[in-house]
Amino acid sequence: MKDSYLNFVNSPFGASLARSLGLPKPEVLRRYRPERPEFDGLVAIGAAREPQLLDALADLVASIGVTSVAHESVGQWVPLANRHELMTGRFEAADPGSSAKLAALLFDASGIEDSTQLEPLHAFFHDTLRSLGKCGRIVVLGRPPESCSTPRQWTVQRALEGLTRSLGKEARRGITANLLYVTPGAESGIEATLRFFLSPRSAYVSGQVVRIEASVDTASSSAATDLASLQAALPLDWKRPLAGKRAVVTGAARGIGAAIASVLAADGAHVIGIDIPSARDALETTMRQLNGTALTFDIAAPEAPAQIAAALAEEGVDIVVHNAGITKDKTIAKMTDAAWQSVIDINLSAQERIDDALLAAGILREGGRIIGVSSISGIAGNLGQTNYATSKAGVIGRVQSMAPHLRARGITINAVAPGFIETQMTAKIPLTIREAGRRMNSMSQGGQPVDVAQTIAWLAHPGSAGVSGQVVRVCGQSLIGA
Ligand SMILES: NC(=O)c1ccc[n+]([C@@H]2O[C@H](COP(=O)([O-])OP(=O)(O)OC[C@H]3O[C@@H](n4cnc5c(N)ncnc54)[C@H](O)[C@@H]3O)[C@@H](O)[C@H]2O)c1
Repeated sequence: MKDSYLNFVNSPFGASLARSLGLPKPEVLRRYRPERPEFDGLVAIGAAREPQLLDALADLVASIGVTSVAHESVGQWVPLANRHELMTGRFEAADPGSSAKLAALLFDASGIEDSTQLEPLHAFFHDTLRSLGKCGRIVVLGRPPESCSTPRQWTVQRALEGLTRSLGKEARRGITANLLYVTPGAESGIEATLRFFLSPRSAYVSGQVVRIEASVDTASSSAATDLASLQAALPLDWKRPLAGKRAVVTGAARGIGAAIASVLAADGAHVIGIDIPSARDALETTMRQLNGTALTFDIAAPEAPAQIAAALAEEGVDIVVHNAGITKDKTIAKMTDAAWQSVIDINLSAQERIDDALLAAGILREGGRIIGVSSISGIAGNLGQTNYATSKAGVIGRVQSMAPHLRARGITINAVAPGFIETQMTAKIPLTIREAGRRMNSMSQGGQPVDVAQTIAWLAHPGSAGVSGQVVRVCGQSLIGA
């Protein structure tokens, strides 16, 4: 759906009118385009105390080909300065008179062990935030509080959430701010995630906290714990990381599902799209364009899991995306049994049954990926959506409960929770509620289906093996449920 307000305030006349009336001016978000460089510009790196991730960070920043400058908080950490010719010293472009703009701010807070050691974060963001360009990126890295050895360390690492989320709200201008908690031993597994959060692919993902654990591969093989061997095992072609993979996407005929299919195909996967028989034409058209395969099933039918498993058995699958979903909104006193049951069945129980069938027969291969589409309604609840919110909260429970069971097979399971995304589903919402949903987030606009799709592609990436059991909101840092 078109956001007429966003288009208007970004026209020359609309921009000056918005300025004179003091109206909000949502930024036109920079999204990934294969023909444009994915990473560009200058990245400022800061750190505190004895940073443990700086080495991996500097390697990654160098490998994506951007220039980096080190803030004085990095101090005299010699290996970094020598290897990457980073400059130290107060960041000069923070001078308000300077036109230089930064593309991203990275801060390694992994060495902070006590709340008295937080000052370098203030100094770094104080000096650099005004120099961060439109649609810039902020990524703070720390240690998962629950992995910390002392209560003080746990406390201060947990404090990073408040900082990062506030930065997302203060920065505006299409800037995102996210926090990555890297478990000790998982340092070599951060590249795919860091790339995602630095890239235009994460245009509508802000205020999120992601934990990266040592994946089964990296944990079990001592050879793979060093960065060089892990990188050697990762796809060299970062533009087509899913080459050779087979991905199933339910509800792929339109909306977010069609966008997921399209992004996974662009990343190299063979996509098998599933949708209901009445959506056959749209599904076949989408799949033909992507050289994919169209399968028509009502996923909630009792025989569907076995039929889907049979259709996929010969070649197996690597990625399963449970996107199909419906709404049947009514307050609970007015909600019929059928409306309750169909929403729970399609949005939640069908996912469980299909996964069971694919896992029991080993059709979802080792190292596979399961991604469920939840919703911020499942986090916050919503008036008139008891059925929908129940089903979507269940999707979250499912990934959290299944992740430990699937770990031994190297299979990850995660959920994305979209906020307001411009689709036919949200076009049905009454105008005033729709406008509120669109604007009540740090981006002051709704997301696009491609924003959800790109987040799913990151979770499906071979390099995301250390990300499991998590829920990532694609909501522009919505105020709802935050
Ligand atoms: N649009 C949003 O703002 C938003 C926000 C949060 C979550 N979501 C979730 O994202 C997912 C996609 O939403 P959308 O906006 O693209 O919806 P949509 O209605 O445009 O598309 C849903 C697709 O699922 C298919 N489908 C429905 N029931 C099915 C069944 N029984 N078997 C097979 N396919 C079935 C439909 O035919 C359709 O193609 C849903 O799970 C939805 O709950 C959407």
